[in-house]
Amino acid sequence: MEEIQVTPFIPMTLLSLVLLWYITRIFLKSSSNKKQPPSPPKLPIIGNLHQLGSSLPHRGLHSLSQKHGPLMLLHFGSVPVLVVSSAEFAREIMVTHDTTFANRPRFKAMMKMVYGCRDVSLSSYGEYWRRLRSIVVLQLLSNKRVQSYRVIREEEAALVVKKVREASGNHTAVDLSAMFESFSNDVIGRSAFGGKLSDSENGRKFLKAMADLMELLGVIDIGDFIPWLAWIGRVNGFDRRLDDTAKKIDLVLESVIQERMQEENGQHFVDILLDIYNDKTADASIDRDSLKAIILDVFVGGTDTVSTTMEWTMSELLRHPTVMEKLQHEVRGIVKQNQEIVTDDDLQKMHYLKAVIKEAMRLHPPLPLLVPRLASKDVQVKGFDISAGTIVMINAWAIGRDLVSWEKPETFMPERFLNSSIDFKGLDFELIPFGGGRRGCPGITLASAGMELLLADLVRKFDWKLAKGVEPKDLDMSESPGLTVHRAVPLLALASPAT
Ligand code: HEM
Repeated sequence: MEEIQVTPFIPMTLLSLVLLWYITRIFLKSSSNKKQPPSPPKLPIIGNLHQLGSSLPHRGLHSLSQKHGPLMLLHFGSVPVLVVSSAEFAREIMVTHDTTFANRPRFKAMMKMVYGCRDVSLSSYGEYWRRLRSIVVLQLLSNKRVQSYRVIREEEAALVVKKVREASGNHTAVDLSAMFESFSNDVIGRSAFGGKLSDSENGRKFLKAMADLMELLGVIDIGDFIPWLAWIGRVNGFDRRLDDTAKKIDLVLESVIQERMQEENGQHFVDILLDIYNDKTADASIDRDSLKAIILDVFVGGTDTVSTTMEWTMSELLRHPTVMEKLQHEVRGIVKQNQEIVTDDDLQKMHYLKAVIKEAMRLHPPLPLLVPRLASKDVQVKGFDISAGTIVMINAWAIGRDLVSWEKPETFMPERFLNSSIDFKGLDFELIPFGGGRRGCPGITLASAGMELLLADLVRKFDWKLAKGVEPKDLDMSESPGLTVHRAVPLLALASPAT
């Protein structure tokens, strides 16, 4: 009996081994047949994580791409990461293969702090994202809505002008970095909640928690890339900070929602979202977490990015007095002297102002690596094989300096945009500070409206020079690391009333 059982077992085992060998060979052959983008050599376990360079990854990745090319495959731990550093390949990701790359990766910090990525910017590509995106585009950020918040922008710009005038009267320097930050917080705070966050205890708590959130979202958490090291976050307190921050933000958002629920017919972001939330019959209804996640998106997306852009724009203007003079000449020529407010019609005519902002964003995109994308399926990009699950980082900072797209890329020269149709709306891939394609930024109109108005006012009403006798060529332009890349040191300047 025993012999009868053993005899078929041996050939079966042999057969399985042979089969396994064949399958492995076929698999290895097919994967070696794949043409992957160039990669720098990697280390075991950490892959290329050590090559990100300093704490400013856009710079480390830029240097690597100069050696390995504009489409480069890295590994962060075990996760494949595609780094795109040219307009040509950015177009491939955002146009040719837009749907394949319309997904976002999920990292622990985002999951914990942004309601399990139930917001617009981090949610997976699909029906849920489409629904939220259409609420944001059609209801919160439409041209008409942006227009309706003009009075808020005007009042806040007037307050900044008042503070600058006071400082100028006292011959003290203005901290433009801090001023731009409170301007964008207050404009978004009033548009979203109907009040300034800095005016209430709750609001100040929210602003502090938001600053923590921005910092934590900028941290590369090793556990996202090397899952068996995820325990490190539990030991070094990172996970606890995530939980605490998430709790604080949720508490404040809940209290704001409760407050706004008492108000009738408000026209602020929260009121509009509450209407959608309360209308349970509508197909597009949203739940409470989605509502809070969208509000967070508006803050994360619309405050720091805007203040950072203004900070870099004024830095470049102060470093280039002839550009500043030319801009002042344009703005003062368009807005009449006795006119209190710069109108939208005036702004439309300010071509040089628009060129100055574009040029500042080319050299200093506030989100230098945009917001990461994820390949949802295997795909070929210009003959290179990219596997499903690859994270895609588009280095807008590097693209803005690419010699293929730009003449004298290191020179600040707004004139390059005067006789050119290149814009940052996501169609010209050499200039993509707002990204592009179906996941491109829906906040461009709102962001531009605030930045143009305040910058026009500041150069119209004042003459500027750097504080502490710093010469324009000596201005420290170092960057500080984080989700948005600010100046490392605040921008201090002296204003005097325009003559
Ligand atoms: C100077 C200001 C701004 C910059 C530089 C900026 C930049 C960006 C970038 C790079 C992306 C990712 C695009 C992509 O993946 O292709 C993005 C997405 C987004 N931005 Fe902005 N943004 C700004 C202002 C705003 C404002 C004012 C709002 C709203 C109040 C906003 C809301 C969003 C949202 C909701 C998304 C996610 C879109 C999606 O995934 O479908 N942004 N932004």
